[in-house]
Amino acid sequence: MLASRLRMRAKEKAPPQPRFAGRRNSGDKAKPVSRAALAGEADPRLVALSVSIQDDAALYAEDIRGSQAHVTMLAARGIVPKAVARRVVAALDRVRAEFAAGKIRFDPALEDVHTHVERRLGELVGKDAGYLHAGRSRNDQVALDERLFVVAACERADAALARLQRALVRRGREHERTILPGYTHLQRAQPVSLAHHLLAHVEALGRDRERLAEVRRRAALSPLGSGALAGTTLPLDREATAAALGLAGVTQNSLDAVSDRDSAVELLFACALAAVHLSRLGEEIVLWTTKEFGFMTLADAFATGSSLMPQKKNPDVGELARGRAGRAIGDLVALLATVKSLPLSYNRDLQEDKRPLLGAADAVVLTADAVAGAIDTATFHADRMEEALGTGEALATDAAEYLVERGVPFREAHEAVGRAAAFATAHGRPLARLTAAEWKGFHPRFERDVLRCFDARRSLRRRELVGAPGPRQVARQLSRWEKALRERKR
Ligand code: ARG
Repeated sequence: MLASRLRMRAKEKAPPQPRFAGRRNSGDKAKPVSRAALAGEADPRLVALSVSIQDDAALYAEDIRGSQAHVTMLAARGIVPKAVARRVVAALDRVRAEFAAGKIRFDPALEDVHTHVERRLGELVGKDAGYLHAGRSRNDQVALDERLFVVAACERADAALARLQRALVRRGREHERTILPGYTHLQRAQPVSLAHHLLAHVEALGRDRERLAEVRRRAALSPLGSGALAGTTLPLDREATAAALGLAGVTQNSLDAVSDRDSAVELLFACALAAVHLSRLGEEIVLWTTKEFGFMTLADAFATGSSLMPQKKNPDVGELARGRAGRAIGDLVALLATVKSLPLSYNRDLQEDKRPLLGAADAVVLTADAVAGAIDTATFHADRMEEALGTGEALATDAAEYLVERGVPFREAHEAVGRAAAFATAHGRPLARLTAAEWKGFHPRFERDVLRCFDARRSLRRRELVGAPGPRQVARQLSRWEKALRERKR
């Protein structure tokens, strides 16, 4: 019932049919390379929906590089005259400069960056421009452009994450001896050094960089030669084009090559996870700069004031790092949803990948650089951090392990210290101030030297397993990262 009523309503409200005999374009010279309607001009409403130049103009450099490599290969294979290829390559250099200077006028009827480049080329070299597109389709062309873009985007994001790692490692080196509580559930748990804490973020960023390198490696293949979907009858040299573009090889299935957007999805995932890591660091900036924590003060240049409250100093940098991650996650989901269920091979839906793809790495670069600046210039308050360690509660586990070292099963030790902690709390006394005799009352294996457990620095010194916050271990990790970041500097 309801369904049929809805159907009827839909019929009543059916949009007017597109009229294909619309306005005429002035003269053949200005005519698009015919992408539009099958006969005559496309309806302006279709044009408005189809146009993507406002987004994909960002791909002009990749598009032109690809075209130059393609036409050079065509000449080498004798498919186009060598002199034509030379003219086309030179003219494309000029088109690139015009794009860079913002001198290309966008025309919605030309749809996308590929057609704009080809049209401008035609204006510069006339009929010769027509040789360029032999053996190529916009389908493999856009796939190539995006792969080249992903390669460069991975490098940009990687360099920014490395800059942030350097800032964290540098501040860590300054604060090898600064101790603070490590937290679980945002409750004070056990002592760590500030260096160890900062290095935790360095590790996460290191994995982000490894991921970006992987994404880059998989993206660096040339899809050119896949044509619209089924290759071409022309004797292209796919490997030569790939090599000229600095790519490692060629894709192996033409249907897959024009319809796959994995490189873009993977870049978005790598960027989203990096953004999530940045958001966690951002959240700590927000927390640590509160009066309640007081662990950190941002430099004035990395804080903002309130337009109303004169006393405010706001950690917008951390908040924006949190906020940007939301967008990064949304963009990833948007692209996955676009690709989902598409039949092979190319479908126009894929054009919708531009918005999410094109801004992903830039968002990571902007965020990482601002956070790096904030970390670089912040003041860390070692006194407040040490104060937050409190009076022994963060060392209760050490007291339990004291018993374990003396042959007591851990569960039994845990209970004994639990009773001591409850006793201390009930009497409003810090755990560290219990007497040796009192400890003995909680377990016969406690001796006078249990009191030494409540020295946080000693506790740290005894944590020297790989990955632990002991000072020698942390110094080793700092050196490892200093070396890695020096070697891989771009
Ligand atoms: N602008 C298009 C895109 O990004 C280029 C490919 C167009 N191909 C086509 N068959 N209409 O997807």
